Amino acid sequence: MTPKIALVTGANRGIGFETCRQLLKTGYRVILTSRNAEKGRKAARQLEGIGAGLAFHPLDVSNPESIAALKALAEAEFGRLDVLVNNAAIHYDTWQVTIQHGV
Ligand SMILES: NC(=O)c1ccc[n+]([C@@H]2O[C@H](COP(=O)([O-])OP(=O)(O)OC[C@H]3O[C@@H](n4cnc5c(N)ncnc54)[C@H](OP(=O)(O)O)[C@@H]3O)[C@@H](O)[C@H]2O)c1
Repeated sequence: MTPKIALVTGANRGIGFETCRQLLKTGYRVILTSRNAEKGRKAARQLEGIGAGLAFHPLDVSNPESIAALKALAEAEFGRLDVLVNNAAIHYDTWQVTIQHGV
């Protein structure tokens, strides 16, 4: 059976990276993306040899040109996407407080 294709954004670390690892172990072909190419390649190397195969492509989700470039590349290279894990973001720490002096 042809493996399904999954793309994960912000996958050079954290939940995105672990999601890639688990998708690979479940049998997906995974496109690991990262806004920083060096960090993305390093993350991809750590997942080499697991499952149906991993490809790295740069993607900054806040940059329309970067999104368009990845879309074109994914279409040309894979022809389709079965799963999109839109993980990339910053984690806003709502518990953090600012200590104010003299108030
Ligand atoms: N961890 C939690 O407890 C928690 C709770 C609720 C929701 N979430 C959400 O779950 C997701 C992942 O959380 P995490 O803890 O794994 O976060 P993380 O360790 O901070 O990782 C965030 C990832 O997103 C990437 N990223 C940020 N802006 C980007 C952009 N414009 N384009 C492409 N990539 C970008 C980061 O890249 P760089 O390495 O280049 O910065 C990093 O790879 C986030 O959306 C977060 O808001 C997490």
